[in-house]
Amino acid sequence: VSPETAAVTRRFHETTNQYVDREFGSSGAPEGFVPMDPENRPTPFNRYPDAPRIRLPKDVGESARAGVDVLGEGPSGDDAALDAALLGRLLFYGAGVSRVRTAGERQMVFRAAPAAGNLHPVELYVATGGVSGIDDGLHHFEPGEFALEVLRQGDRRRAVAAALADDRSGEAAATLILTGVPWRTGWKYTARGLRHVYWDAGSLLAQVLAVADAAGLRSEVRLGFADAALNAELGIDGVSEFAVAAVVLGQAGSAADSRSDEGPAGAAREALSKAPVEFPLVTETQTAGNLPDADAVNGWRRSAESLGRPTSERIDAPPPQRRGGTIEELIRRRGSTRLFRQEATPAEMARWCLGVAARPVPGDFCAAGATLLSHHISVHAVDGVEPGKYEWAGGDLRGARPAAGEKDARAESQHLCLNQPLGGDSAFTAYHCADLESLYEALGDRGYRAAQLEAGLAAGRLQLAAFAVGLGGTGLTFFDDAVPVAFGTGDHCMLVTAVGPADYRNTPGGLPGAPVELAGMEGLMERFSRRFQE
Ligand SMILES: Cc1cc2nc3c(=O)[nH]c(=O)nc-3n(C[C@H](O)[C@H](O)[C@H](O)COP(=O)(O)O)c2cc1C
Repeated sequence: VSPETAAVTRRFHETTNQYVDREFGSSGAPEGFVPMDPENRPTPFNRYPDAPRIRLPKDVGESARAGVDVLGEGPSGDDAALDAALLGRLLFYGAGVSRVRTAGERQMVFRAAPAAGNLHPVELYVATGGVSGIDDGLHHFEPGEFALEVLRQGDRRRAVAAALADDRSGEAAATLILTGVPWRTGWKYTARGLRHVYWDAGSLLAQVLAVADAAGLRSEVRLGFADAALNAELGIDGVSEFAVAAVVLGQAGSAADSRSDEGPAGAAREALSKAPVEFPLVTETQTAGNLPDADAVNGWRRSAESLGRPTSERIDAPPPQRRGGTIEELIRRRGSTRLFRQEATPAEMARWCLGVAARPVPGDFCAAGATLLSHHISVHAVDGVEPGKYEWAGGDLRGARPAAGEKDARAESQHLCLNQPLGGDSAFTAYHCADLESLYEALGDRGYRAAQLEAGLAAGRLQLAAFAVGLGGTGLTFFDDAVPVAFGTGDHCMLVTAVGPADYRNTPGGLPGAPVELAGMEGLMERFSRRFQE
């Protein structure tokens, strides 16, 4: 592939790589930028103070299916009707406030889905038509008050469908749109924060799709859309905030009425911080992946149709150690594990979790039943599996490259994860990778978005799967240059997930409007820091 193909994205990737022998500093940041300035901290989520509000019902209910079945099997039906409670359920288990931690004046907010640095750069918008209990309109989800802010009144599904070049979405009950606010994550991670936008969007989507599957609501991910048209529909500028992905929800024709109504233009967004900073490299990279119109979207989709490696739709039955409970309960029990106990995990648990992570995603960015990812696994303590490096392929751990022992395997993986103890203390650590060259060739700059997002989705699923069998898990960052060498792969590392038994009891989150206060977090964070110094 010519280095001219996706040249902007290649430059972004290289500039924002973390190298073993090079200080990361503030790659891609404007001159003099100081990360994490407390005076310039971004707001935790967007607000549109002047927009009319629709309060979502706090009783969002739960699905009847077991969480383990949803994770392992995917959808069981696709004819559920979307109403206010189910919409609220999808929004809450994707981006709702489930836990808080009060420290003096400040309240830290934790959400249902994970996000690197707890920064949550992803916003949710939804265009609805004929959803019972919700007036037709284009809405922004405000997680603080668990409400919809009405940005445009009237049915906007056709306008959204035109931007997605997807007629079916104009007739489905709703289209959920995920946007990214790069400053929220750039505040800490500088230009590399663009990767976090896609990772966090993927992790959030893992939860939304699982809740939709459990409810029997059809859901399809769309990464192909005319960016300027979709951004304009949302009233966002495409720089400080841009559309990242869409999910078409419900069957075509299930909505009562699909009149299109112009409505007033979008309301004004509250300032993101005192002086939001733009990272030119982020803007250039995001823009380089944009598609101008419906023809370009259709062309992009056609290229994606034959892309990817086949992967298993249905996986083995969950292991006997599985926990009961709905997917919603499982999501509430999730919280990124801060300390692992160095203890062996049964092989069937590891296999089931990896099978869940590798399941195909229903979307337009690769062939049906395929994945853009390869999963390379560092095994530390899995019963009957020699510590070492493997690839998860064809539903099993293959191509063993044994380590000298458990201790060495753990030490190497900790190093690969930017020397974070969590990367080596786990029972196994999964490195989600992608062949960027073939993606650039087929999908241009936009292929990068797809790989990062699918990696976030796999990481989100793997974390949920871990909790479903009583283990813990966390997303991790890594040395970009060292991972491919360690695993002997030409693929680039996109994201990492560590899985193993947690060394403490995690506090489950609460329900809409009733977040749980995280008591005892200080003690845990002290142990977390101490482990770094050992
Ligand atoms: C993409 C991604 C990358 C992450 N990277 C790290 C990491 O490198 N180190 C770490 O300790 N935690 C990491 N985390 C965990 C976050 O810090 C955690 O999700 C966040 O603090 C919110 O807490 P919660 O997951 O319990 O809701 C990562 C999470 C995600 C989604």
